[in-house]
Amino acid sequence: MSEGYRIAVVGATGQVGTLMLTLLRERGFPASEIVAFASERSLGRELEGDLVVRGLSEESIQGFDLALFSAGGATSGEWAPKFAEAGATVIDNSSRWRMQEDVPLVVSEVNPEALQGHHGIIANPNCSTMQMVVALKPLHDEAKIERLVICTYQAVSGTGRRAVDELLDQSHALLHDREIAPPSEYAHQIAFNALPQAGSFAAGEDHTDEERKLMNETRKILGDPSIRISATCVRVPVVTGHSEAVNVQTREALSPERARELLRRAPGVSVVDDPDAALYPLAIDAAGKDEVYVGRIRRDPGHDRALDMWIVADNLRKGAATNAIQLAELLHARGLLGAARAPSPA
Ligand SMILES: NC(=O)c1ccc[n+]([C@@H]2O[C@H](COP(=O)([O-])OP(=O)(O)OC[C@H]3O[C@@H](n4cnc5c(N)ncnc54)[C@H](OP(=O)(O)O)[C@@H]3O)[C@@H](O)[C@H]2O)c1
Repeated sequence: MSEGYRIAVVGATGQVGTLMLTLLRERGFPASEIVAFASERSLGRELEGDLVVRGLSEESIQGFDLALFSAGGATSGEWAPKFAEAGATVIDNSSRWRMQEDVPLVVSEVNPEALQGHHGIIANPNCSTMQMVVALKPLHDEAKIERLVICTYQAVSGTGRRAVDELLDQSHALLHDREIAPPSEYAHQIAFNALPQAGSFAAGEDHTDEERKLMNETRKILGDPSIRISATCVRVPVVTGHSEAVNVQTREALSPERARELLRRAPGVSVVDDPDAALYPLAIDAAGKDEVYVGRIRRDPGHDRALDMWIVADNLRKGAATNAIQLAELLHARGLLGAARAPSPA
């Protein structure tokens, strides 16, 4: 391999990890070596690019400049600090570190300045938060968001690879008049259904953890704890691409025309908004793309200072892997990776 950073990809066999490996190659990120890590189950497995899966140990995690994590909260909780202590900058896809005060929660187009002064771990937001804040940022800058009412329609790939298999297996069985196996990834059948539970309910909680993430992470990224937010997160039988109906109430007046104009100029956003021609963002069109698509921008007839809109993006790309690689690119461009963080020689 060429000159560059030594990079660990933890969770390299998963949906997000696989995509991060592809994006590192496709975007030509400077890597001298990429090492794939996953669970004990995958040890020795060969991955594309001549990579062989290794296990996490005190010895195997030494000497990295960058560690890209997508292996769930428990693995991040245990291993991200160890990678950081060993000199790597960690970009973590799990929810484990997102709300910790000294951990920046960063979307490349929205708050890149938060990367400065990180302490070794940087958090990548939840997928439904990520795509929404990319679209909300220019509106917030212009007219200050006061309140959001959100309903999401989230794809099963957001739950993990096993959930995709469950949707496909159930759909296949039902189309062939066969009984489905008892669901294991969700509380109910997901095929041909809509579940008003994305995520899980903690004891005594009437919102799911996914809904709480959407509320708390949005306020942290936009840097405005005063934004009032109501969210319902729904799981739908879509493989890839989260859709969101968002009602945006602003402090200053904001017309749909002005919102469209701001969004057309916003980085990472593509406006698809011609309802007469049945043109609006669709999950199947967003799948495989890195942008956030916005359409159905219209005035809320129930409020003078509110707009409704429909926001769609690929939850595995901009919602996870693409943003992680974009953050790595920003760290590289700003000299915040590797040698910049390496301990000074004794
Ligand atoms: N899917 C999304 O849309 C999305 C969006 C944003 C964030 N995320 C987050 O990204 C993470 C991964 O999601 P995913 O959809 O890629 O899940 P996934 O397809 O189920 O993959 C999970 C990955 O984690 C690895 N892993 C599990 N336990 C491990 C352990 N003890 N030690 C080391 N590696 C372990 C798995 O390895 P094996 O193959 O060996 O089991 C696999 O590589 C999660 O934290 C998720 O919340 C996902």
